Amino acid sequence: MCGIVAAAAQRDVAPLLIVGLKALEYRGYDSSGVAVLDHGTLRRVRAKGKVREMEALYLADPFPGGTGIAHTRWATHGVPNEANAHPHVAGRVALVHNGIIENYVSLRSELQAGGHVFTSETDTEVMAALIERHILQGLNLREAVLATVRSLEGAYAIAVISRDEPGHVVGARRGAPLLVGLGIGENFLGSDAQALIQVTNKMLYLDEDDVVEITRDSVHVYGLDGSPVQRAVHESELSSDAVERGEYRHYMQKEIFEQPRAVADTLEARIGPKGVLPNIFGIDSDALLQRTRALHIIACGTSYHAGLVAKYWIEEYARLPVSVEVASEYRYRDAVVPADSLFVAISQSGETADTLAALRESRRRGYLGTLAICNVPESSLVREADLKLMTRAGPEIGVASTKAFTTQLAALALLALELARRNGLDPDRYASLCTELQHLPRAIENALKLEPAIMALAGEFIHHEHALFLGRGAQYPVALEGSLKLKEISYIHAEAYPAGELKHGPLALVDENMPVVAVAPNGPLLDKLKSNLQEVRARGGRLIVFADGAAGMDDMATYGAMLRVDAGGSFIAPAVFTVPLQLLAYHVAVLRGTDVDQPRNLAKSVTVE
Ligand code: M6R
Repeated sequence: MCGIVAAAAQRDVAPLLIVGLKALEYRGYDSSGVAVLDHGTLRRVRAKGKVREMEALYLADPFPGGTGIAHTRWATHGVPNEANAHPHVAGRVALVHNGIIENYVSLRSELQAGGHVFTSETDTEVMAALIERHILQGLNLREAVLATVRSLEGAYAIAVISRDEPGHVVGARRGAPLLVGLGIGENFLGSDAQALIQVTNKMLYLDEDDVVEITRDSVHVYGLDGSPVQRAVHESELSSDAVERGEYRHYMQKEIFEQPRAVADTLEARIGPKGVLPNIFGIDSDALLQRTRALHIIACGTSYHAGLVAKYWIEEYARLPVSVEVASEYRYRDAVVPADSLFVAISQSGETADTLAALRESRRRGYLGTLAICNVPESSLVREADLKLMTRAGPEIGVASTKAFTTQLAALALLALELARRNGLDPDRYASLCTELQHLPRAIENALKLEPAIMALAGEFIHHEHALFLGRGAQYPVALEGSLKLKEISYIHAEAYPAGELKHGPLALVDENMPVVAVAPNGPLLDKLKSNLQEVRARGGRLIVFADGAAGMDDMATYGAMLRVDAGGSFIAPAVFTVPLQLLAYHVAVLRGTDVDQPRNLAKSVTVE
C-alpha cells in the first residue's frame, strides 16, 4: 500500500506534497515523510503517526525547495517508527516506495558486504542504496533507476531525487500505481489522481515497467529497456469538492448517506423502461455475454461479499453456474475453468494486488473473456480487463467500504438481469425485476431514515467484545458484510453465519452476553430463519433483528430489538438491508471512540500481497 506524491516546480513544494499526502492517507497512515531539494541541499522530515504529526514538525521548521518527494506509509517490513518512515536516504539519493521488494534480503546482504550501512528495517532502503551505487559508478539518476529496477523482484512504485540533479524526479512502477500530473510550468507524480487534483486535472497514466523523468517543464517516459515510450494524457473528472467531508462527522457517514445518489448514478443510462440497455459492458460485450455459460467471480473483502450476492442472483435468474472466490486463494490455485466461462473481477480501487494478479493469472486459464466491475476508471484493473462496468460511487475515502458495496451490487444486478434476459427468464419476471432495481435508490433513502433508531441501539454493543450476524440466502453475504463493517471499525470481534449453520457449532457461543444480529426480510427462507432465531432465544441470546414487517416477526423484539426496514422487493433487499448494518457499525464505532475513517492496521487500497 502506501501513498506517494512528488513534484518538480518553481514554487516551494513541501506544503503541496503534504496536502497530497493527506488525500493519500487512505493508502496507509502509520508514518509519513517529505524530502525536498533546494539548490543541491537535501532536507527531510519524518514522523510516526498520521500526516498531521509530520506536518506539525515541518511547520515548526519549514524548508524551501522546488523538487520533492513524499510518502505516507502502511508498514510491511519494519514497525511504524521514524527510522522506517520514508523517504529513505542513501548518500545523495532520497527515495519513496509503495510495494514490496521480494529479493531485498539478498540485495541487502550484497550491499552490506560492499560496506553499505542500513538505517532501517525496510525492504525499500536497498533501492536507494542501489541507485546511489549506480550513480557513483557514473550513471545519471534516470539510468541508475533503470539499472536498479531491472534487478528487482516484487512490486514497486517509486519516486527518487538526487542531490546531483536538482529539478529532476524519476519515478518507476511495476505492480503498484503511479501517474503523472501535468501542471503549467510544474509536474507531479502521485499514487492516484486524488493526490494531485489540487494542482492539476491533466493526468498521464504509466504502464507496467514504465520509468518516468519529470522536471518543471518536461515529462519523459521510458520502457524498461530505456527506450522512450508515449503515454496518453487524460483529463480527470475528479473534483476536489468530491473529497471534502462537508457537514458530516466522518467520511464513512458521508459515504453512507451518499448511497442513494451513487446507486442512481450507477444505474443511470444503463437501465430503462424496456430493461438493461445494450452494450453497457462495452461494445464488444454482446457476443461474449451471449456465449457465457458459467462465471468465476474474484474479489477481496467487501467486494468479495458483493460477488457472493451476485451468485445468488445469477444462478436464480440466469440459471448459469457461478463460483465466487477470494482473489488471494484463486491466484495460487489450479482452478478448473468450465467451458465458456466469464472471469469477473470486482474491486472498488482497481488496484488491489491480489485481484489484479488474479485477473492477470486468468489470462492463462482459458476464459472467454474478463469483466471488471470497478469504481476507478483509470485503474489498472479497468485498463487490463476486456469488458468493464464502472460503479459510479465517486471517491470513497473511509477505509470501510459502504457506497462502493451498494454500487457494486447495483452493477452486479445489471449483469444478472442482462444474463437472465439472454438465458430465457420469463419477460414479465424480467420486467418486474428491472422495475425493482430502478427503485433501489429510493429504497436506500428510506433505509437511511433508520439512523436515529440505530443510534439508540448502538449503545447496547459498546461493552460487548463479540457479536454474531445471521442471514439466509442472499442475505448471508449481507450478514458477512455487516460483521466485517463492525469488526473493522469498532474492533468488536464479529462473525457471520448462514443461520442454518448455527446449530452446527456457533450456537455454543450464544448466551445473554452475545448480541445476535439477524437480517430477516420476507421471503421463502423467513420461516427457516425464524426457527434459527428461536434457537438463539432459547439460549438467552440478545436478538437484534432487521425485518420488513412480515407476519410473526414483531414478537422478536421481546428478546431484544426489532427494526423495520422496507426492503423494496426481494431482489434488491440485500442492498437495502446492508444500509442499517453500515449505520450500526458506524455508530458503535463512534461510541467506542475509534478512528472510524482510518481504523488501526488497515489501509483503503491494498496494493501489496
Ligand atoms: O478496492 P477493493 O474493492 O479491491 O478492496 C478490497 C478490500 O480490501 C476492501 O473491500 C475491504 O475489505 C473494505 N475496505 C472493507 O470495508
